[in-house]
Amino acid sequence: MPLLIKNGEIVTADSRYKGDIFVEEETITRIGDNLETSPGTEVIDAAGKYVFPGFIDPHVHIYLPFMATYAKDTQQTASIAALIGGTTTWIEMCCPSRLDDALAGYELWKSKAEGNSACDYTFHMSVTKFEDKTEGQLREIVADGISSFKIFLAYKNFFGVDDAEMYRTMTLARKLGVIVTAHCENAELVAQLQQALLAQGKTGPEWHEPSRPEAVEAEGTNRFATFLETTGAAGYVVHLSCEPALRMAERAKQRGTKLWIESVIPHFILDKTYAERQGGEGLEGMKHVMSPPLRDKRNQKVLWDALATGLIDTVGTDHCPFDTSQKLLGKGAFTQIPNGIPGVEERVNLLYTYGVKRGNLDIHRFVDAASTKPAKLFGLFPRKGTIAVGSDADLVVYDPDRKAVISSKTQHVNNDYNGFEGMEIDGRPSVVTVRGKVQVRNGAFVGDSRRGRFLRRTPCH
Ligand code: URP
Ligand code: ZN
Ligand code: ZN
Repeated sequence: MPLLIKNGEIVTADSRYKGDIFVEEETITRIGDNLETSPGTEVIDAAGKYVFPGFIDPHVHIYLPFMATYAKDTQQTASIAALIGGTTTWIEMCCPSRLDDALAGYELWKSKAEGNSACDYTFHMSVTKFEDKTEGQLREIVADGISSFKIFLAYKNFFGVDDAEMYRTMTLARKLGVIVTAHCENAELVAQLQQALLAQGKTGPEWHEPSRPEAVEAEGTNRFATFLETTGAAGYVVHLSCEPALRMAERAKQRGTKLWIESVIPHFILDKTYAERQGGEGLEGMKHVMSPPLRDKRNQKVLWDALATGLIDTVGTDHCPFDTSQKLLGKGAFTQIPNGIPGVEERVNLLYTYGVKRGNLDIHRFVDAASTKPAKLFGLFPRKGTIAVGSDADLVVYDPDRKAVISSKTQHVNNDYNGFEGMEIDGRPSVVTVRGKVQVRNGAFVGDSRRGRFLRRTPCH
């Protein structure tokens, strides 16, 4: 059925105007004033609301075997939560460990998603070792529609690569035009600091941050940038959390390195005092353990300013839920607390509220960082990331005046707590479409929980 979204204020990364959007099948076919409808058209009145392009989360973990357990969400639970929060496409980290075969891992991750997602999706392919068969396997994966790799400089002996493997990954990526995304922390320093802290009897979650101090992330960021510069590959730092790492990335950008920066919503909103909370014998702190860790609050203004000017390019979530029983695996030692905080449902509302509404972020930069830039960097633009004739009709009719308080009692993510519990939000998606189909209406999921499609991409770097 054709769809007409009328009278909304259309906001993209570079324009803002009142208008109507007409959708046929899966595509935007007309944009203008007072558009006529054809018989059978569904009409949605967006007066008093914004219409944004569907938001893109460039960093989520859904199926993730990690730290002796699995992340809690399924494609179904997380994609419905994502849509309610305005995210119509995500890029999941496909993360086979060093013990696994890369191609088998890729097929496993794809099989978990296929026919099970309510939003559109693709993957960053993790390279967690580089052996003789790796190049051939990665070429096959790229030919199947993947145009970004992921490496971990952290998580020694599990996901982490050494410098030789990083070099070989980047050399191949450069040849293929693939962008390399990276978790930048020095794995050896983390391992040494963890052992030293545990040996001193420092076992609680409040010691997670001191075991991965800012300098450890700055070193990883600088080394990643140096390897990019040397190999000529394009790169993207994921979940950057602090000023020293930001300055390393900034200097590399100034030298002309092909480098882009992502930060994630927890680092703008939460700080390390959350992981220091002692309630529930440390459980409250454990809920806020992620890597890189939540930082000293002074970093938040630095991140907001860098986001506002575009030095930080994108904002993702690093969505990675573990419930309280899983977090308690680390009761005796912070090194065993599964790392991760969910956020796929909250990212857009938090960024809008604490960014746009509080005057920290221009509304166009908001759209750019949470939709357009991820689409451009990862080969999805202009199919995704904008509102234009010919683009997929992924649209978010956003009510800027609908106030709410975040609570685990009302969330859709499959978890028994919410890391942002009690925080106020000042807006929410009212209607969300995925390729022309209304998936969310009045803030509730009403759609097809299997509509999501695998998005084939071609390398663009
Ligand atoms: O703590 C985190 N970030 N968990 C997910 C894995 C990762 O490093 O992205
Ligand atoms: Zn990471
Ligand atoms: Zn991650």
